[in-house]
Amino acid sequence: MEKILVLDFGGQYNQLIARRVRDHHVYAEILPYTVSLEDIKANEYKGIIFTGGPNSVYDMNSPHYAKEILDLGVPVLGICYGCQLVAWMGGGEVKTAPVSEYGKIEFNADKRSKLFKGIDEKSIVWMSHTDYISCVPNGFEIIGTTNDCPCAAMENTNKNIYAVQFHPEVTHSRFGSQMLYNFLYEVCGCTGDWVMDNFIENTVSLLREQIGDKKVILGLSGGVDSSVAAGLLSKAVGKQLTCVFVDQGLMRKDEGDMVEKTFTSLFDMNFVRVNCGDLFLSGLKGVTDPEEKRKIIGEEFFNVFWNEIRKQEELGFFAQGTIYPDCVESGKGDADVIKTHHNRVKTPDDVEFLGIIEPLCDLFKDEVRQVGEKLGIPKELVWRQPFPGPGLGVRIIGEITAEKIKILQEADWVLRDEMEKNGYEKNLAQFFCVLPCVKTVGVMGDHRTYDHLIAIRAVTTDDFMTADWARIPFDILAKVSNRITNEVEKVNRVVYDITSKPPGTVEWL
Ligand code: XMP
Repeated sequence: MEKILVLDFGGQYNQLIARRVRDHHVYAEILPYTVSLEDIKANEYKGIIFTGGPNSVYDMNSPHYAKEILDLGVPVLGICYGCQLVAWMGGGEVKTAPVSEYGKIEFNADKRSKLFKGIDEKSIVWMSHTDYISCVPNGFEIIGTTNDCPCAAMENTNKNIYAVQFHPEVTHSRFGSQMLYNFLYEVCGCTGDWVMDNFIENTVSLLREQIGDKKVILGLSGGVDSSVAAGLLSKAVGKQLTCVFVDQGLMRKDEGDMVEKTFTSLFDMNFVRVNCGDLFLSGLKGVTDPEEKRKIIGEEFFNVFWNEIRKQEELGFFAQGTIYPDCVESGKGDADVIKTHHNRVKTPDDVEFLGIIEPLCDLFKDEVRQVGEKLGIPKELVWRQPFPGPGLGVRIIGEITAEKIKILQEADWVLRDEMEKNGYEKNLAQFFCVLPCVKTVGVMGDHRTYDHLIAIRAVTTDDFMTADWARIPFDILAKVSNRITNEVEKVNRVVYDITSKPPGTVEWL
């Protein structure tokens, strides 16, 4: 398989570079700048991309790399800091720029360069730099400028080395995607063999080889990642796979049944559903503190899940739905910053597996979804919005009771139903109802009521680190409010949360 190395010098867009390369059907992997030259050589990359980073190349404590990397005969593309690094390594000069550039800047491209095939001579690029290349190294030619940057792009065609001061990976760079395409196909000579059909075929045969005739156990949450992992494993080893699905009674309406039906009807596997809503409710009785609730739900889940696993006659391997961003932490450039993410489950000491299997550990989320669709997993699961591990437990303020769960499930179901019917859900990253456990006065016929308030939360976001409240059209909100107050017993008022993150968070607890 063709591979591109994204050599990480600590920039904030490093995962995005890898994703954009993969969008062009070439596999890209991110490695920190501490990886050895020997390892790079051994991997036979088709090309190497030096990422951006927050440092100055002339600061000796900044991340650098052995100059020999430019003599491997492997094409290189330097981006931002990576561009300056190429200049510095090649004997050019990098200085603090008289004028730093930030944001959308007009760029003039030399159309004779392979890198700029098919793009306009003048276009907007995304810049973010305070240093600039004041003198290009021997063998390099300037192939792009801006008003304030005399060398915004350069090339050495003999060695197939290219460098751009701007960020082609962000969508603000009008032709950035085309430039990356040109680097991959015109410079590196890639053919584009990273397609999900190949991934499924290769992964299934690798899984068969690895698992042999042993058993595999997977904890299924009903989320996208574990669902797709289950689909792949089932395709590989069928009934050797056992999926354990713990239904703690805090999922959305009918969700547990939907997960069970999907996996038992679609895939060949052993499916174990553990219904333990009552156990969770008794553990949560009288508890109002949000962090305490999270802790209890987490601990109960751990106990129930592992007790179920201990009942299995043969354990074999333990599979997890860990995906690529869980394994690489961008922005540091250090080899030892692998994240401990909640997707990586801790196993208790007394449970011993033959090994851990992570069939999705090379995929980004959008690729996981593509694989899910190709495996025939229904859209509701493949495009399922994020759902917190503690479930509705973090959407009920105060003590959790069976009655409150039911009210919230019904209201939330109406919201989802309306969003689906009018197709507005595709505009939202996440949307749900919250039960603040506040009762307000209402009127129904000739009677006063004193019933629950439901809050609607809907956000748009790319990464959930920041989010904006969604501008859902009033007509849709009116319909939802009308239906919730009519159809859900014990609710007489609906409000819409218009708080962005920060200062609010997406969830209320
Ligand atoms: P916040 O509320 O932190 O949410 O802005 C950001 C994203 O994380 C999800 N979330 C959680 N997920 N366990 C989870 O697995 C949790 O305790 C939890 N709290 C928040 C939230 O739904 C949103 O997608």
